[in-house]
Amino acid sequence: MNGKVVIGDAVLYRADCREILPRLEDIELIVTDPPYGTGGWRRTAAGQGRDPSAALVREPWDDGALDWLALCRGAPVLTFWPPQQMAQLLAAARAAGYAKTRFLYMRKRDPRPPVAGRTAWSVEPIAVLSQPGFQLYGGTDVIDTTTPRIGRDAEAVGHPYQKPLAVMLWLIAKTRCGSIVDPFMGSGTTGLACKQLGRRFIGIERDPDSFTLASRRLTEAERQADLPWGRLALPGLRHE
Ligand SMILES: C[S@@+](CC[C@H](N)C(=O)[O-])C[C@H]1O[C@@H](n2cnc3c(N)ncnc32)[C@H](O)[C@@H]1O
Repeated sequence: MNGKVVIGDAVLYRADCREILPRLEDIELIVTDPPYGTGGWRRTAAGQGRDPSAALVREPWDDGALDWLALCRGAPVLTFWPPQQMAQLLAAARAAGYAKTRFLYMRKRDPRPPVAGRTAWSVEPIAVLSQPGFQLYGGTDVIDTTTPRIGRDAEAVGHPYQKPLAVMLWLIAKTRCGSIVDPFMGSGTTGLACKQLGRRFIGIERDPDSFTLASRRLTEAERQADLPWGRLALPGLRHE
């Protein structure tokens, strides 16, 4: 492990999640967006973005192994996962003892990569793995969105696979769990949603730059919440 930071109700580990998950005393719920292992479309040079025959290389972070699932020790898991790798996820879920599966869907209008002839999808399933009895609340199973982009969306922080905050708020609001773990925290969007919804958060991220992004975002959210007008500055937060 390379470090641990506490920001309000959030605990962030800079480490490989396979090292930290077994050490967590109790896991109530996992909400995560892991590497899919479908990468391999980073252009090797500028200017190749629209060339379908451009050489492609695998992103070093995009290790789509599913060994982390067994380390969740049967806690309910809400995980983004691509349709073309679904068989592997379901097999790993069965092996890890998950008896119940259902799906929610994030529908994107701007899937990447926007290159003709290459795999792209406009619907990202969110698998809900649990035991019978685990319940989700709220009506719709589908959310329509676009992904945050620098220069277009104020919330974009530069993580290549940042999820929209609205999607994470929608997902977490479907649960009643007080404490949520994201083993693949990236820029910390799950943590921000937890902050806004009053849930405790444990985030794990092994990439130092992503970890710094997440720490900054959560520190800023904490600072905003501390200001006298901070509660008003958090969109989507309802006050009783
Ligand atoms: C798809 S991104 C998550 C993006 C996040 N949802 C957001 O909104 O920013 C997956 C993240 O998992 C991290 N990661 C990959 N393997 C990991 C591991 N074994 N342990 C911890 N983090 C890992 C990557 O560095 C990457 O930042």
